[in-house]
Amino acid sequence: MSRPDRYAVFGHPIGHSQSPRIHTLFAAATRQAMTYEAKDVPPDGFDEAVRRFQAWGGRGLNITVPLKELAFRIAHTVSPEAARSKAVNTLLLSSDGHIHGDNTDGRGLVRDLTLNLEIPVTGRRILILGAGGATRGILEPLLKLGPAAVTLANRTAEKALQLALEFQDLGPLKAVAMEALPQEQYDMILNATAASLSGDLPPLPNHVLAKGGTCYDLAYGKEPTPFVEWGLQQGAVLSRDGIGMLVEQAAEAFFLWRGIRPETAAVIATLQRGL
Ligand code: ATR
Repeated sequence: MSRPDRYAVFGHPIGHSQSPRIHTLFAAATRQAMTYEAKDVPPDGFDEAVRRFQAWGGRGLNITVPLKELAFRIAHTVSPEAARSKAVNTLLLSSDGHIHGDNTDGRGLVRDLTLNLEIPVTGRRILILGAGGATRGILEPLLKLGPAAVTLANRTAEKALQLALEFQDLGPLKAVAMEALPQEQYDMILNATAASLSGDLPPLPNHVLAKGGTCYDLAYGKEPTPFVEWGLQQGAVLSRDGIGMLVEQAAEAFFLWRGIRPETAAVIATLQRGL
């Protein structure tokens, strides 16, 4: 009998990764013979760790903070989303040594928003908080859905301006400093800052969420994030964290590796019950 294919997630640190749990559930549900482990890989050992994993029968990797830009650089070929975001969260490793990179974060977010939560994006006014790697990863798939306008607000305004310049050919995009948000209202506010990770709330005025609007935090945790709480206080019809996105980006990676799309609803519910 042949050995199961090997997969892993590389990150630094990696202790709290939910990826082994998610992919083990996917593998069981789709009857795939595969193993999935988590490895703490510091940036200076990344290239060697990937090559060694590939040589020892590794067929795919998920890549998380702070290694996504390094993964982009090591890939021989990349998907259009990875090329745009200059970051890779999924590597497909061939036995002949070829490395293909993809970024499934944006597709994962869009699937969670549109299919699971049924939040409309087309024709809506969207505010994205943050202008780091997380925003980079979601801009192209979001703009492709045809929102009325996307505003990027960042603590450091220059970074938002830079991103708006890089992605302006894909749709109506503008950039502002977070503390200078215009007197406008938005149908959806996405938090793509790292603020939730330290239990902080980005500085937001009270007027920005339109009636009937929704809030979505790309971060997640055991408790509702400060931004999810803020959304509820502002009267959002839906204010959710990023567990659905986490599971959907994993499903996209699984599909790339195995050619099978796992069901996600039960896995999302399992994670929501016990992080
Ligand atoms: P990631 O890859 O998770 O996006 P990053 O590239 O370090 O991480 O970007 C983090 C983002 O969160 C940035 O937009 C950062 O704002 P600055 O560019 O001004 O640094 C934002 N951020 C982090 N902590 C924040 C806080 N407490 N309030 C508001 N924004 C915050």
